[in-house]
Amino acid sequence: MTVRMTIRSHRGDYAVVEDPSVAAAVERLLALPERLVPIVDERVARLHAPSLAPLFERAAPHLIEATEDNKGLARMEDHALGVMRLGARRDHVLVAIGGGILQDIACFLASTLFRGMAWELVPTTLLAQADSAIGSKSSINVGRYKNLMGTFLPPRRILVAPAFLDTLDEDALRSGIGEILKVHALAGPAAFDEVAGLDLLGDRAALTGAIWRALSIKQRYIEEDEFDRGPRNVLNYGHSFGHALESATDFAVPHGIAVTLGMDLANHVSAARGDLSAGRRDRMRPILLANAGRFAATPVPLDRFFAALGRDKKNEGARFAFILLDAHGAARKVLVDDTPALRATCEAYFAANRAAS
Ligand SMILES: NC(=O)c1ccc[n+]([C@@H]2O[C@H](COP(=O)([O-])OP(=O)(O)OC[C@H]3O[C@@H](n4cnc5c(N)ncnc54)[C@H](O)[C@@H]3O)[C@@H](O)[C@H]2O)c1
Repeated sequence: MTVRMTIRSHRGDYAVVEDPSVAAAVERLLALPERLVPIVDERVARLHAPSLAPLFERAAPHLIEATEDNKGLARMEDHALGVMRLGARRDHVLVAIGGGILQDIACFLASTLFRGMAWELVPTTLLAQADSAIGSKSSINVGRYKNLMGTFLPPRRILVAPAFLDTLDEDALRSGIGEILKVHALAGPAAFDEVAGLDLLGDRAALTGAIWRALSIKQRYIEEDEFDRGPRNVLNYGHSFGHALESATDFAVPHGIAVTLGMDLANHVSAARGDLSAGRRDRMRPILLANAGRFAATPVPLDRFFAALGRDKKNEGARFAFILLDAHGAARKVLVDDTPALRATCEAYFAANRAAS
């Protein structure tokens, strides 16, 4: 075990620990003195059954399919009743094992059941290991509003076992790489160009290094602004467009890949406003398009896309709140009107992607 980072939060410090195997992470959980209540991605439970068996022998898990529907507010009662059926009490520890969806559900339950329970997190996707695991947030969908409700409660500890990544398919790896590219873009053009030069899909050591660098970049923002009142907003770079793309395509595009395309579109919008240079936009574009792969050609109905943009919780009044890169490549929040010119930029962007593939 290696303690790789210690994160400051309103609940005190919490550690992010690296474990050499799934079995080692399980052993660490079994060493806890409290009773455990595992909330586990059912696919992960199946794929890693032998390593997780000792945990499940001690504490039966509540299994959840990782779908956006399942992190909707309407499903929270089922999840709460599921863990109550397992005998959960306020002094037990919820253990979330899964990707961002399981994390969001478990964090929300831990924040609200008994008005607060301790929880620990074992992130199993690249996106969760490199990005979502730290930052204290739960994000719950309400009807068609993505991530509308939520709470801030950090896990007591995060156990990262890169071995979980062995069972991820390439789409899920690319999704996580999208968030890795995003935080490196926030760290500046040089950091982005450096990570873009690595073979993150093919070289596991490079990928592991990028996970820890991505977390340490994100750490600066979440420690400065844990409750997302200002500086942390920029972590939403690519997300307004990305969420709208997910919604307009009925989640056919994985989250981090939608964010990848969202960054590229944000760069087009910024360049059209005369902010980001066309040169910088065009330097980033092939890297982002390569990570998006076949998803760049996904048909996006413009009316549904704009309807979803209109539901973005960051909007202010009738204006969209986008995170855009400025002329120096720095991210900042910009309020943008819904104009025919903006719609034309988005329409041309999607048409160009389809033509290019
Ligand atoms: N709360 C936050 O701070 C935060 C931040 C970023 C994203 N999110 C949310 O996270 C969600 C996306 O999360 P995600 O991309 O981690 O994926 P996910 O939880 O949606 O899982 C994606 C797929 O991978 C499978 N899976 C998980 N681990 C696996 C493994 N080790 N091997 C094989 N398959 C595995 C899942 O069953 C699912 O089919 C979105 O809902 C997004 O809004 C939350």
